Amino acid sequence: MCGIVGYIGSRQAQDVLISGLARLEYRGYDSAGVAVADGGQVVVKKKAGKLANLSGELEQQPLPGTLGIGHTRWATHGLPNDTNAHPHTTEDGRLVIIHNGIIENYLSLKAGLIERGHTFQSETDSEVLAHLIEEAYAGDLEAAVRAALAQVRGAYGIVVTHVDHREIVAARTVSPLVMGVGEGEMFLASDVPALLPYTRDMVFLHDGDMVVLHDDGYRITDLQGNPQERPIDRIDWDAEAAEKGGYDSYMLKEIYEQPAALTNTLMGRLHDDTGEVNLDISLDPTAFKRISVIACGTAYYAGLVGEYLIEQLARIPVEVDVASEYRYRNPLVSEHTLAIVVSQSGETIDTLEALREAKKGGAKTLGIINAKGSSMTRELDDTLYIHAGPEIGVASTKAYTSMVGAFVLLALWLGRARGTLTDAQAQELLRATRELPRLVEEALNPARVAEIKRVAEKYAQARDYLFLGRGVNAPTAFEGALKLKEISYIHAEAYAAGEMKHGPIALIDANLPVVVVATESHLLEKTISNVQEVRARSGKVIALLSDGDTENAAHADDVLYVPRAHEMVSPVVNAVALQLLAYFTATYLGKDVDKPRNLAKSVTVE
Ligand code: G6P
Repeated sequence: MCGIVGYIGSRQAQDVLISGLARLEYRGYDSAGVAVADGGQVVVKKKAGKLANLSGELEQQPLPGTLGIGHTRWATHGLPNDTNAHPHTTEDGRLVIIHNGIIENYLSLKAGLIERGHTFQSETDSEVLAHLIEEAYAGDLEAAVRAALAQVRGAYGIVVTHVDHREIVAARTVSPLVMGVGEGEMFLASDVPALLPYTRDMVFLHDGDMVVLHDDGYRITDLQGNPQERPIDRIDWDAEAAEKGGYDSYMLKEIYEQPAALTNTLMGRLHDDTGEVNLDISLDPTAFKRISVIACGTAYYAGLVGEYLIEQLARIPVEVDVASEYRYRNPLVSEHTLAIVVSQSGETIDTLEALREAKKGGAKTLGIINAKGSSMTRELDDTLYIHAGPEIGVASTKAYTSMVGAFVLLALWLGRARGTLTDAQAQELLRATRELPRLVEEALNPARVAEIKRVAEKYAQARDYLFLGRGVNAPTAFEGALKLKEISYIHAEAYAAGEMKHGPIALIDANLPVVVVATESHLLEKTISNVQEVRARSGKVIALLSDGDTENAAHADDVLYVPRAHEMVSPVVNAVALQLLAYFTATYLGKDVDKPRNLAKSVTVE
């Protein structure tokens, strides 16, 4: 995450930057910083902690100037302290940058820069950008930024200024950037709400766009310098709608944020060339004999996918527990146990207490967590952040798919370290994992979404639903049923498909929609047999099938096609269709999807 703001015009830049950053604090609040240019100098002020720490100081000692850039940080590389806060400058302080994203190849770039005489102040990946641009600078700032970005691999929204130029140069790849167009003034930000007090005319920059801002205009090019045309959109959202990015609900916004959230989860952690995964954790991957995964709700279902992945790819015995059960069942824990807690908030009391229970027994502990600095992260030996960004909708969506993404990484990492995966297998899985953001983007294409909406509305009056899945996608069925229950209040059961004949088959009649996750897998034939069993009892089959599977479509009443994915990573792609099925059912029934009755986003009481 991270939030960025830029301003050039006639107002005092500091005021625009602070008010913009205040509206972006949801993107991170580990530190905040601004740089304001005034004639021949650029002055930087930055502080660890919330924006209030910085704005308090700036109130006492304002920075005069009408050009500036500002940043609020969600730390990825380097501690959340003053030095690692943005903006970052070159040694002479003449060039200043802010960055949102992750530079994947920063270590090798940094080594080269140090060899060529550059001195680094921070531990961040971002600082390499300042030095690279400086190295390429020969009087033309735009050209220097272009040359620097050509060396960079990763995600960035970057904003740059230099004392010798009254201009701001910015570029984006993956990380968002929107430009506000004013009269005699121009703005930049990570997100629309930051700019709404100043202008409603916005240009949404595309991936690979670069822009140069002057007081009275702007010029957009691609990264090679070819001119690009982008429309100016007039934004008529009110403040609340703006926070939802124009979507009807946070939940829908978060469903659509999944490609970006997954990119952030995977970013910098996969190395295709060597088939290695880098998780930046100190855990010794060979120092335990069994794994206990502990979580609640949606995070628990992510844990069930994790169990399957770790056992398949790393051949370590895994058990998964609901935290409220684990903490009271006197679990068998020893120093040979690795306890993995999974939590979006990092605050769920049952999971936190279960973590303490595992520690008491001598387990090593690892967290798969979204919220930085949350209570669990302070007690864990190691944390694998999912970097999904803030999740506000009570029903978890992007945190779920990112948690599953994190389990894929962890299973690969363990498999490599423990020698259960060959180079070829690892490389194939790495490639499949890299594909995930694109496949999820494809799962969200308008034609597919429209079909899910149609099916949701067709069955919205059902009293009950049954969800079935097998293998790595059994948890997909469980999570699909949970989503539907949570937000539409329709009763939904979920079963491992093979277990259907041992009970739930008695429920099947012509009024029961049965969602079957039947995407490409080594168990597909068996799943299709279960579909036949449902059909034979007049149940209505809604089948999730892989693109192109017309043969099995003949067995279903309705088909939701999903992009083909490697079986091991398919739960991420498949979850998206079921989130949307729940979403459209609930909205059709007039329910408030962001605040479902009786539920809380983070449950901090037992
Ligand atoms: C609550 C939320 C669920 C969430 C669960 C665990 O029940 O409503 O959406 O999955 O808590 O939350 P955590 O923050 O620990 O992932």
